[in-house]
Amino acid sequence: MQGKRILLVVGGGIAAYKCLELIRRGRERGLRFRCVTTRAAEQFVTPLSLAALAGEKVYRDLFSLTDEAEMGHIRLSREADLVVVAPATADLLAKMAGGHADDLASTLLLATDKPVLVAPAMNPRMWAHPATQRNLRQLRADGIHVVGPETGELACGEEGPGRMAEVETILAAIEALLVGDGPRLEGVRVLVTSGPTREPLDPVRYLTNRSSGRQGHAIAAAFAAAGAEVVLVSGPVALADPPGVHTVHVETAEEMLAACLAALPVEVAVCAAAVADWRPARRLPAKLKKTAEGPPPTLELEDNPDILATLARHPEARPHLVVGFAAETEEVVAHARAKLARKGCDLILANDVGPRSGVLGGPRNRVHVIDRDGTLESWPELDKREVARRLVRLVAERLGRAVCA
Ligand SMILES: Cc1cc2nc3c(=O)[nH]c(=O)nc-3n(C[C@H](O)[C@H](O)[C@H](O)COP(=O)(O)O)c2cc1C
Repeated sequence: MQGKRILLVVGGGIAAYKCLELIRRGRERGLRFRCVTTRAAEQFVTPLSLAALAGEKVYRDLFSLTDEAEMGHIRLSREADLVVVAPATADLLAKMAGGHADDLASTLLLATDKPVLVAPAMNPRMWAHPATQRNLRQLRADGIHVVGPETGELACGEEGPGRMAEVETILAAIEALLVGDGPRLEGVRVLVTSGPTREPLDPVRYLTNRSSGRQGHAIAAAFAAAGAEVVLVSGPVALADPPGVHTVHVETAEEMLAACLAALPVEVAVCAAAVADWRPARRLPAKLKKTAEGPPPTLELEDNPDILATLARHPEARPHLVVGFAAETEEVVAHARAKLARKGCDLILANDVGPRSGVLGGPRNRVHVIDRDGTLESWPELDKREVARRLVRLVAERLGRAVCA
């Protein structure tokens, strides 16, 4: 998404404050923002805040002589890679559906030849109103992309659908539209595992690891953005479910295996979860009490099921392509090669998860891709989302899918 230009139209709703976060998070990912406000939007968020965060002047007036001389509403609407309307008020949606052009925002939305994404936000009754729903249908038919709204408690105190999609969800939708020139995987069913597992010792204690799920979730999101039908089986993580993905939440390795087997058949399985190798041999029904005398208890462990090997050696429903991850702290490539042979998968992505690498829980990753034919490809250190996109491209090539651009 590096350097892609977003023209952000801010409508007059309470959720306008979330635009500031959208700009911040988007800029961290390399997006560039230029903002346009409606008159009403300025009641909710100041042009100064938007300009400061975007690092660009805010455009507000259709009849500003300076703007028209310097830029013009036509150029403004076309100098972007994507136009995003957030929050998209009921009023803005109605104007767009009706083809109105009585202020800068509506005029540029009518004049643009770029994809448009709207993030509606309003009171649940406004959202449910037949007029709003009619406008939405019209906009979808006109090729406008829609993200959200979500259901929950709103600033007006009511509950229901109408809350603007979370910033991360809007960014994922932006990403999906901007990277639409990658491979297409419509009709391909993909299983992705992500996050750690949690292996209970008693009702309050468990064994786990430092996996954040960021890489696995990014992979699920990237496959979904490429049009694949994605089932994500996730251990406990502090991440939102990726948009457009069917997410199954599990806790233990055994639950993760059961959810993976239930997801079969799939063409592709990517096992990115850091599944605990062992679990406490006994799961105590009550909290293990500390006693004044005697030595501390010893922990007896037993093997967990091997999810990657189970999928790769499945007698009836082996996925066409099984991709594993090898998290290593030493001799990364050698250990990963051995793992690939042991598990019977097609590809292994090996990464160094030693404490100095910052990979576990961090935003970046450096992977070595090892093929079952022995070939090795080392990728540079990349954002985990970019690792995910490269993996999607690689998988698409393996499946014989066309990769454009
Ligand atoms: C406090 C307050 C909050 C509002 N919140 C919303 C909202 O979340 N969504 C919405 O569609 N309209 C909301 N409105 C109504 C819009 O501000 C109003 O329809 C305005 O004309 C929209 O202008 P715009 O679409 O040009 O930005 C709100 C109004 C007020 C006074």
